[in-house]
Amino acid sequence: MNVSTDAKFSKRTDKIKRSPIRELLKLITKPEIISFAGGIPDPTLFPAYLIEEATKSILRNEPEKVLQYGPTEGDLRLKSELVSRLAKKDNIKINEDEILILTASQQGLDLIGKILIDSGDTVIVGLPSYLGGLGAFSSYGANFIGIPLDDDGMRVDIIEEKLKKLKKEEIKRVKFIYVIPDFQNPAGVTLSLERRKKLVEIAEHYDILILEDTPYRELRYWKKSIPPIFTLAPRGRVMALFTFSKIFCPGMRLGYVIGSEPVIDRIVLVKQSTDLCTPPFTQGILREMLKGGALDEHVKKLVSVYRDKREFMLNVLNKYMLPLNLPDLKWTRPDGGLFLWMTLPLYMDAERMLPRALEKKIAYVKGCAFHYDNSGKNTIRLNFSYPTMDAIEEGIRRLSQVIAEEKRK
Ligand SMILES: Cc1ncc(COP(=O)(O)O)c(C=O)c1O
Repeated sequence: MNVSTDAKFSKRTDKIKRSPIRELLKLITKPEIISFAGGIPDPTLFPAYLIEEATKSILRNEPEKVLQYGPTEGDLRLKSELVSRLAKKDNIKINEDEILILTASQQGLDLIGKILIDSGDTVIVGLPSYLGGLGAFSSYGANFIGIPLDDDGMRVDIIEEKLKKLKKEEIKRVKFIYVIPDFQNPAGVTLSLERRKKLVEIAEHYDILILEDTPYRELRYWKKSIPPIFTLAPRGRVMALFTFSKIFCPGMRLGYVIGSEPVIDRIVLVKQSTDLCTPPFTQGILREMLKGGALDEHVKKLVSVYRDKREFMLNVLNKYMLPLNLPDLKWTRPDGGLFLWMTLPLYMDAERMLPRALEKKIAYVKGCAFHYDNSGKNTIRLNFSYPTMDAIEEGIRRLSQVIAEEKRK
């Protein structure tokens, strides 16, 4: 007998859109394709040898701990290590009950959605914003208010304008503002200090939480770092998400969230029914990498390589795009992170252009994928960490041809 599973799936999951990046990643595993699509690290830089040494050490010294189930909150020694690292790096002062180890930060987006969003609640997001965040929140039935960005990040003044127009009951349903302040994914822009302060002021005034998601914070190539929103707000206002995917390796699936004790406690509760605990094995490896500063040395190396790649990408964009003579063709100059954001003339459609790009064996992500309302048709996200320098040059040359073919005569 045929089983009609379609009729049995939950309505909640009917709404979830397939990620165009995951779909694209399936295509671009072919070596002949030059990919600017994934937000993925340069695989030649993975510290495999250090991981091998760390693995040997934990298996030799504490197999009974790292191969066993662990506490849902995470390994206490790792948490203590992270608490001191946060204090040292960013002047973030928290205790071990205000941090929870996650199976990478995507899990945090999902669990935070789970504890805060009832169907029909509202989340304020960037236009554009990280599509994994949008997907996680919409799976719990969130509605979105979209806020445009400029070179200084989210237009915080527009958040205020929009909130002023809402009725009291509508404001109560605005659960949190989702913000990626450092080298935003996808746009590469950074939220200025003034706007961070203003954002906190607004959140305090309207009693809305802030979710600060900052996977790229340590990958800064230019200018001085700006304090995390977490440090600018009273206790309890901000939950902040961190990950080791971009500064160590995504295959480890390790991250953490910090916030007030009641919030962390509620996340622990829902994490128990998700995966019981983040693997103690990978947590043990990370602890070894943090000890003695091996991870920090690794981050220095990443920063130096990615800084060069970013610079190179900006140079070849000038070389191949400026001769196209399209005044509306622009791209961001990120101070860090893994992406830059290209805006094409308004009449161009990055989705329609993608099959031709793939024919020329290059891949990018269409910008509308990062807009919950499907706007931003004339935008493109370009990653510069994954391709080699040669691939960056050749790929941008081919992309310039795709764009040239679209140019109105
Ligand atoms: C802004 C943002 N948040 C969260 C994630 C999820 O990363 P992970 O689950 O690997 O920590 C990403 C990945 O690209 C991201 O860009």
